[in-house]
Amino acid sequence: MDETDTAGGFSGAEGEYQLPHIASTYAALLSLVIVIDDDNYERIKKGIIVEKIHQWLLSLKQPNGSFFMHTNGETDVRAMYCALVIINLLGIKDKKLTENCVEWLVNCQSYEGGFGGDLMDEAHGGYAFCGLSALLFLIDNPKQLYDLIDVDSLISWMVKRQYAMEGGCSGRTNKLVDGCYSTWVGSLSPILEAITGAEELINREKLENYILCCCQDKGQFGGFKDKPTMRVDFYHTNYVSCGLSICNSFHFIDEKIMKEDGLAFSFKAGKLNDNCPLELVDPVFTVPIGTPLRFKKYMERE
Ligand code: FPP
Ligand code: ZN
Repeated sequence: MDETDTAGGFSGAEGEYQLPHIASTYAALLSLVIVIDDDNYERIKKGIIVEKIHQWLLSLKQPNGSFFMHTNGETDVRAMYCALVIINLLGIKDKKLTENCVEWLVNCQSYEGGFGGDLMDEAHGGYAFCGLSALLFLIDNPKQLYDLIDVDSLISWMVKRQYAMEGGCSGRTNKLVDGCYSTWVGSLSPILEAITGAEELINREKLENYILCCCQDKGQFGGFKDKPTMRVDFYHTNYVSCGLSICNSFHFIDEKIMKEDGLAFSFKAGKLNDNCPLELVDPVFTVPIGTPLRFKKYMERE
């Protein structure tokens, strides 16, 4: 945690010249989301300087609704999603932080149906995940989505991301499949299925085949990768594993949680395949299901 006067938020690494960064703060908080329990929550709560993070996020907020990734940095849909995750986990939602978010986000839906990183940008799987998930923090129930974005064109763009031959997903039109889109595109599927009542928008069996046949390192390292010609890394191992879990599960919205804690926290899941050893994953937060709400409740405790 950077504790200088101008800061707040987490930086990517330790050191004097590190800037607090929205993505690092998002990642740090989600790591705490996973590990928090009855034994450590008081220590974790004490360690997070909530009001400083609040002030720092206000300093990154732009009049058009978007957020800078860091002081004088870039603005994009990823920054907005990460900011909304932070705001909602820490319980610091206020009018200034959420002003114009919806208006800015909906304008990032491109003519193709997916979301681009910024206004007028090309639709991309990573930003489509961030855009849709961000909206779930800003609306009260799934029906409102239809008044804001073109849901059908988002679905049609999303299903085109899965290629018939490979079974894996690409991030954008005319690009190659990549294992990490098993999460970025793969988790759009259960979210949109739960919202619309549609059945299996992305073919889970085909995606699982791509993951198991093309993304696993069967040599000395283990782990997952983008595609057979590439090497494994932590990023792909995480997002391919989450995608594999999604392939083996179904998700639904718990209405009671939706009313009490908001739509983004309300996803529940069940296993499609009891033999799958992977934990169920929350499609909005991409961490084990139930853990974001548990963290939120710990943060709310007196
Ligand atoms: C590659 O672009 C970009 C990625 C593989 C990552 C995209 C993911 C995001 C923007 C989501 C980030 C989310 C969070 C929560 C931080 P490329 O042009 O190299 O690859 P392409 O050819 O597949 O488009
Ligand atoms: Zn990738």
